Amino acid sequence: MNCVNSSRKIYVLDTTLRDGEQVPGAKLNLEEKMEVAKQLIRLQVDMMEVGFPSSSQGDFEAVRAISQIVGKDITVTALGRAVKSDIDAIYESLKKAESPMIHIVLGSSGVHMQKKFNKSPQEVLSMGVEAVKYAKRLMPNVQYSLEDASRSSFDYMWQTIDAVVKAGATVINIPDTVGFAVPEEFGSLIYRINERLKNLNPNVLLSVHCHNDTGLATANTLAAIRNGADKVECTINGIGERAGNTSLEEVVMGIRLHPDYYKGYTTIKTKEIYKTSRIVSAIMGIDVQVNKAITGDNAFAHSSGIHQDGLLKSKEVYEIIEPQDIGAPPMEIVLTARSGRHAFMHTIEKLGCKIGEEHKEKVYADFLKMADQKKEIYDYDIEMLLRSYPETVVQRERKIDLWELVDFEVIYNTKIPTATVKIKKADSIRETSQSGNGAIDALYSAILKAAGMPVALLEYRIHNISRGKEGLGKVSIQILHKGVLYEGKAIEKDIIRASGIALINAMNKVMQDCAMQNNK
Ligand code: KIV
Ligand code: ZN
Repeated sequence: MNCVNSSRKIYVLDTTLRDGEQVPGAKLNLEEKMEVAKQLIRLQVDMMEVGFPSSSQGDFEAVRAISQIVGKDITVTALGRAVKSDIDAIYESLKKAESPMIHIVLGSSGVHMQKKFNKSPQEVLSMGVEAVKYAKRLMPNVQYSLEDASRSSFDYMWQTIDAVVKAGATVINIPDTVGFAVPEEFGSLIYRINERLKNLNPNVLLSVHCHNDTGLATANTLAAIRNGADKVECTINGIGERAGNTSLEEVVMGIRLHPDYYKGYTTIKTKEIYKTSRIVSAIMGIDVQVNKAITGDNAFAHSSGIHQDGLLKSKEVYEIIEPQDIGAPPMEIVLTARSGRHAFMHTIEKLGCKIGEEHKEKVYADFLKMADQKKEIYDYDIEMLLRSYPETVVQRERKIDLWELVDFEVIYNTKIPTATVKIKKADSIRETSQSGNGAIDALYSAILKAAGMPVALLEYRIHNISRGKEGLGKVSIQILHKGVLYEGKAIEKDIIRASGIALINAMNKVMQDCAMQNNK
């Protein structure tokens, strides 16, 4: 079933700052919300839902502040119930925006009407119509959401849509509030609604809003697009109530990969996706699942020998999206004990080195021993391995001066944690001490001061990759250098040492990038 004939723009509404922010522990202050909003502007979303102004003074102020920075090209909206006080709060908070929209939500399923409101369907319908009429007197753009639509009767839903459109609603939103829908059925529902809605008023946008309770939010949203939805509601990293909302990055890249199938396109600036994902994760303190589609740490990492070999022959063999399309760091060949000689030698070349034919097997065997112990091997580990051989074994073909962590000492106390580091690049050895808010802060301040490298730390994460006293810790960090995002990782038994090496690894990626630019 597909009623869409030609390529059309699919509008993207981001609700990270409303539905996303409902996640326990993800509450943001005004400054943090502004930072996310500014990044959403760079991502070029079409619409942004930024809060529930009647819920608290803080939310009200945040909606008001954000609505004044988004400009005229992005519609800004806020949510409220179908009651005058909520609609007034939305109006008051949005009235200075250049392109505002009031968003009203009211349940349409039997269970919502009986259990939540204890009202008859006709009473609920009149409440909705009155709310839209009231909102329409305040602002021209009004979105009406039929909460729990996927568990509502079709006839009642249509009766409601017909009435609220006649009352002035400009967007009809069909939420799968509890993540109950399945793609084929949800697609058919959207098809039926769209057919009637376009006859009733072709200017009214049909929108969907899906939750991910059974992992189908993206599939349901894409099925809706295929069946005529004009607008989708999503969040960054799929965060939101319970199992979350539809993830913006998955829907946008899904459409981009199959424009003919969905007969549509979005105007999202995809190169901003990765940075947006990391900013939201860092500010909300919610990690992105490592194997998350599109933005997970492993989304562009290849570890099996067969895959690495294929990719090094041609990226198309295993890559359908290029990391740079979403602004992510280049595809990563993660060296593990399963990596073959091809991937290993590729890393050695990347580091500007060459190994004589007769020594290759021995060096590869040493690498495998190391990989068995450390699970994942990063550039820094390879660099250290190569330095343990004489020049007769490893020749430096291109000179890329990389940083090395020669030594460090961290004095931790509750008053002034201090770190002293010794780092080295080529013949230059630098030693510096710095204090910080904690052990890692002091260590990072000392390393960055010694290197004289201006970087901003965007993300710092510790993962436990094997348990017990002898366990290994993995530190992953992301830094911004001159607006470009670089990652660094390290696995060590000592987590403080891993932290230092992860930063050095990220700094060395900056050095490699600079060396590449200079060679161009
Ligand atoms: O999940 C839901 O139904 C909502 C509505 C407010 C759209 O978040
Ligand atoms: Zn929702």
